[in-house]
Amino acid sequence: MQPSDCNFRPMKRRHIDAVLKIIEAHDEDDFEYARDSYEHSGRSGQYVLMYEDAVIGVTGHRRAPDTDNTFWLSWTYLDADYRGRKLGKLMLEKLFDILKQKEARKLFVSTSDYIDPQRGSIYLDAINLYKSVGFKEEVVHPDYYNPGESQLIYGLELQPVQPATKRANNKRGIVLEELFEIGETENVYAADWCFSGRKCFTADQMKRLLDDARERNARSVFISFPSDVRKVFKPLEESGFQPCGILENYFEDGLHEYQFRYTIS
Ligand SMILES: CC(C)(COP(=O)(O)OP(=O)(O)OC[C@H]1O[C@@H](n2cnc3c(N)ncnc32)[C@H](O)[C@@H]1OP(=O)(O)O)[C@@H](O)C(=O)NCCC(=O)NCCS
Repeated sequence: MQPSDCNFRPMKRRHIDAVLKIIEAHDEDDFEYARDSYEHSGRSGQYVLMYEDAVIGVTGHRRAPDTDNTFWLSWTYLDADYRGRKLGKLMLEKLFDILKQKEARKLFVSTSDYIDPQRGSIYLDAINLYKSVGFKEEVVHPDYYNPGESQLIYGLELQPVQPATKRANNKRGIVLEELFEIGETENVYAADWCFSGRKCFTADQMKRLLDDARERNARSVFISFPSDVRKVFKPLEESGFQPCGILENYFEDGLHEYQFRYTIS
């Protein structure tokens, strides 16, 4: 069988069971999260690799909200019988062609360094695949999914980076909103916020949100801002947050995502 014998096509409802079976064979938790994601976020942007009449692989993209053409890679899996024949690379190259037609600027992928007691690092092949097509590691969050299991985020520029344009974010006020538990994690929360008025939240307001997180048994709280929203630095520092990563050119070229973390001991 040659890569040219395979067909790459949009995922249909009838493909979902076969896709989930491939994912389940690799990891039970990924199977459940993938099933939820197809159910709640739909099949738009998702593709399957077919050999004859069988689904042998899956990949896809989801748009990052409030960004200039930034995307996240979605579940990317190949049936175990078909690995090691450049089909993973083929799926990603086909997906990049589709993304370039959409004028996608940047693609991120989130993965884990989970070590299975029997099988070792189950995402290492995927990480090697990402690196082989040009992804660069941008952020590592230790103890993210579970204690001892980090989140790794890789980024790929799909177009030459352009000079930054000026935006008006730095004049806008920031209001804290709800805490929510981050999907796929155990007791790790993120704090929502919105632009409103002219003032920035205070350290005391943030400390109240952290008290709420403690009551919910949170292990960590994350919050992220565009890199030009500098008025948040002081209240974040005063309430005990530490800078923990930067996603380069996340919102647009020259406008990064600054990530901050508060670890509850
Ligand atoms: C990740 C996956 C799709 C890769 O597919 P694949 O067809 O086996 O990979 P390819 O043959 O296309 O390999 C492409 C590149 O990845 C790297 N790679 C893949 N498997 C590797 C391995 N076992 N050892 C070292 N490098 C490997 C190589 O750099 C390779 O390029 P090269 O051969 O030109 O050096 C497949 O291994 C898989 O389904 N893994 C389990 C699912 C998974 O972990 N998904 C990611 C969830 S975040």
